[in-house]
Amino acid sequence: MDAWPVYGRIEGPVVLIGFGSIGRGTLPLLERHFEFDKTRMVVIDPKDDNRYLLDERGIRYEQVKLTPENYRDILTPMLTAGGGKGFCINLSVDTSSRDIMTLCRQLGALYIDTVAEPWEGFYYDKDAGAADRTNYVLREIILEARRRSPGGMTAVSCCGANPGMVSWFVKQALLNIARDSGITFDIPQKRSEWAALMQRVGIKGIHVAERDTQRARQPKPEQVFVNTWSVEGFIAEGVQPAELGWGTHEKWLPDNAGQHDKGNGAAIYLMQPGANTRVRTWTPSTGAHYGFLITHNEAISISDYFTVREGDKVVYRPTCHYAYHPCDDAVLSLHEMFGQSAQPQEKHHLLNEDEILDGADELGVLLYGHGKNAYWYGSNLSIEEARRLAPLQNATGLQVSSAVLAGMVWALENPNCGIVEADELDFQRCLEVQSPYLGSVKGYYTDWTPLEGRPGYFPEDIDTSDPWQFRNILVH
Ligand SMILES: NC(=O)c1ccc[n+]([C@@H]2O[C@H](COP(=O)([O-])OP(=O)(O)OC[C@H]3O[C@@H](n4cnc5c(N)ncnc54)[C@H](O)[C@@H]3O)[C@@H](O)[C@H]2O)c1
Repeated sequence: MDAWPVYGRIEGPVVLIGFGSIGRGTLPLLERHFEFDKTRMVVIDPKDDNRYLLDERGIRYEQVKLTPENYRDILTPMLTAGGGKGFCINLSVDTSSRDIMTLCRQLGALYIDTVAEPWEGFYYDKDAGAADRTNYVLREIILEARRRSPGGMTAVSCCGANPGMVSWFVKQALLNIARDSGITFDIPQKRSEWAALMQRVGIKGIHVAERDTQRARQPKPEQVFVNTWSVEGFIAEGVQPAELGWGTHEKWLPDNAGQHDKGNGAAIYLMQPGANTRVRTWTPSTGAHYGFLITHNEAISISDYFTVREGDKVVYRPTCHYAYHPCDDAVLSLHEMFGQSAQPQEKHHLLNEDEILDGADELGVLLYGHGKNAYWYGSNLSIEEARRLAPLQNATGLQVSSAVLAGMVWALENPNCGIVEADELDFQRCLEVQSPYLGSVKGYYTDWTPLEGRPGYFPEDIDTSDPWQFRNILVH
């Protein structure tokens, strides 16, 4: 692109919390697409690995770890100095999204994050039961904050690639399937209309189906956990229970499934870690493959968003879960980690854009069980194209940072919407802003089902009456 569009002006201070892979990749997009006073920007991170990027630009850096005890004292002056509506961009691990967004809203600053993150300790609390360590609980904490304080300053919760962008893909995919199936409809304007259309089109479920084929120049050394984004973040979510939005078409419940007695009731969890739970899925370039059923906020928010109720009774809900095949080095890293009783390797390595030889991140949504079987819609972004489009990030990072950009644009244009999830933003506006960074964005129909080629040499626990039962998707 010759001239990058400038989407708006941030009048007050810009506070970026966390300057790891996503923080570093978001910075050039902020510089490109917003007007703001760089002398009023501050970046907070306890690690100073990427500090040189800030020094080069004359951006203030504070080497500090936010905690429940210090976050108010540290953030309040930063977000209010000099006046004007500030923007807090939280791209850290181990900081409470709820606490920080609440403070921002009190101080009159806009807020965005990419995950409903807790303070340090939540993921590894040995005294907590499995249900207490779920994303369901983390999401309910955000929903509770919204119930307590509706409206007010916009705070966008969970607006990365997934959770985030994939919720916009789900809506576009649904419209495409409806149109291709000859269904007449008006583009839904509110949640209940979206849910009604999803039901009408007959979608049984949705995979957030991602295959990352980015390949490192150097082979993975033994006892190093390698990934294309936060290793800490990935291990933390990987040892949470597997979790999924639970659809009304499901006829079978795994023996080790747990259900929640509080909250919206849209999800179940399994008594096993998500990164050690495999599911069958499909993406266009790879075709059929195994992904990991790692818990993610969007699995719950999407199922919840598209729920149809009659009175208190749920009459329709799609199943929704993540089916993630991370880069091959991350698969090896998980194999090594679970082989040693889930004890993480001491050394962690995040592959930056220069260390990757080739490959792409193919990330989209597979809507299945309708009249045309299944349809995948999403982004295929190669490392080469990511390098051409924006500096300081690999393909995975750019899919995330460009979603942060889209969420920020929406927040600046809609500053008084209270706490919102990605499902609730204007998906067309967000995709319009984000698409230049996503490589190829396309939809593909497929005949594949999780029963293809089964049973093989051995008897299997399958339901041949409906290929799209979770019973057939889960590897068990
Ligand atoms: N929604 C999505 O699509 C998506 C995708 C990738 C990452 N993420 C999330 O984005 C966040 C950042 O990911 P990343 O790949 O940049 O991770 P990263 O590990 O590279 O960086 C995280 C940074 O947070 C800093 N940090 C740790 N504790 C902190 C504290 N108490 N206060 C302030 N900073 C602290 C770390 O020092 C680190 O630099 C993570 O929460 C991750 O789960 C979301």
